[in-house]
Amino acid sequence: MKVTVVGAGNVGATVANVIAMKNFASEVVLLDIKEGVAEGKAMDMMQSAPMLGIDTMVTGVTNDYAATFGSKVVVITSGVPRKPGMSREDLIGTNAKIVKSVVDNVLAYSPDAILIVISNPMDAMTYLTLKSTKLPRNRVLGLGGLLDSSRFKYYLAQELHKAGIPASLTDVDGMVVGGHNDKTMVPLVSYAAYRGIPITKILSQAAIDEAVAQTKKGGATLTGLIGTSAWYAPGAAVATLVGTIVTDARKLIPCCVYLDGEYGEHDLCIGVPVILGAKGVERIVDVALDGKEKEAFEASVKAARETNAHLAGALA
Ligand code: APR
Repeated sequence: MKVTVVGAGNVGATVANVIAMKNFASEVVLLDIKEGVAEGKAMDMMQSAPMLGIDTMVTGVTNDYAATFGSKVVVITSGVPRKPGMSREDLIGTNAKIVKSVVDNVLAYSPDAILIVISNPMDAMTYLTLKSTKLPRNRVLGLGGLLDSSRFKYYLAQELHKAGIPASLTDVDGMVVGGHNDKTMVPLVSYAAYRGIPITKILSQAAIDEAVAQTKKGGATLTGLIGTSAWYAPGAAVATLVGTIVTDARKLIPCCVYLDGEYGEHDLCIGVPVILGAKGVERIVDVALDGKEKEAFEASVKAARETNAHLAGALA
C-alpha cells in the first residue's frame, strides 16, 4: 500500500518516519517543493532501516507528482507553520493557496486517494479541500482531535501524578472534539477516565480544570518553547490515522470531518468522533454532550464558520 506525504518539513518528515517504523505501508513518497530536501530526508530514513527493521521503501521527490501515482492515502502537511504569538487562523491566506494547488496535483495522479489535511488552520483547510475537490466526504479528513486528545491524556496524567497517582499515559482515556483551535477545542471531561474510573471521581475539579486549560494551549505552549510548531506528537497522530486506514482497523478516533446533520450541524468541517477504516471515514458517531460541553461545541462551530468565511476567495 502506497502513501504520499506532501511537505517534508518537521511534521511531514516525522509522519514518513513513523509510518516507515511501523511497517504497515509498502511505500512512502515524501514530496516537497524545496529542491533536494525530501530526497535527503528519505535517504536518511532508509539508512536507518537496517538498524530499525524497516521494510517500507521511503523515497523523496522535489515537486514530482508523477512519483505519487496510485497512492491510497495522501497526507498534506505543506504550508507555513505558526511562530510564537501566531494563531493557526493567521496562516489562512498563505496556506489556502498552497493546499489548493497541492490537492489538485495529488488528485491528478491518485484520483481515488483518501486525503488527510494537516496544514493549519486545519478545520478550514479540510473544508477547503472538500469543497474545492467535491470528493465524497468519507475521503477527506483533518488531523486535530487525535492530537489534542493525546495532549489531553498527557495533561490528565500529569494531574494524576501531582495527586500521587503515578499513572501510565496509556491508562488514561480522553477525547477532544470541536475545532483544532486553542480557544474553542472541547476536551470532553464527562467521558475522560483512568482505566475505566471516571476522571471526575479521581481528580479534583481544580486539577481537571488545569488539565483542560493546559490541553487547550498545548500547541501554543510548544510553539513558545520550540520557536515553531510541534512535530513529534503531530507526526505520531498522523501516522496513526494512516495506519488505521491502511489496515482497515475501524478505530473510533476524533477527526475533522464534514458534518451533514450530525451534531445538528451542516456544511462545515470540525472534530467529532468517527470510525476510521479502509474507506476513510466509515461512520460519524453522534455522542451526547453534556450541557456545558454542548455549549462549548456550539461556540467552536461558530468560530469555525467565521474562519471559513475567509475562504470565499479561495473557493470562488
Ligand atoms: N508543495 C510542497 N511542499 C511545500 C509547498 C508546496 N506548494 N509549500 C511549502 N511546502 C513545504 C515546505 O518547503 C516545508 O518543507 O512544506 C514544508 C512545511 O514544513 P515546516 O515549515 O517544517 O512546517 P511543519 O512544522 O512541518 O508544519 C506544516 O502543519 O501543523 C501544521 O501549522 C503547521 O501548517 C503547518 C503544517
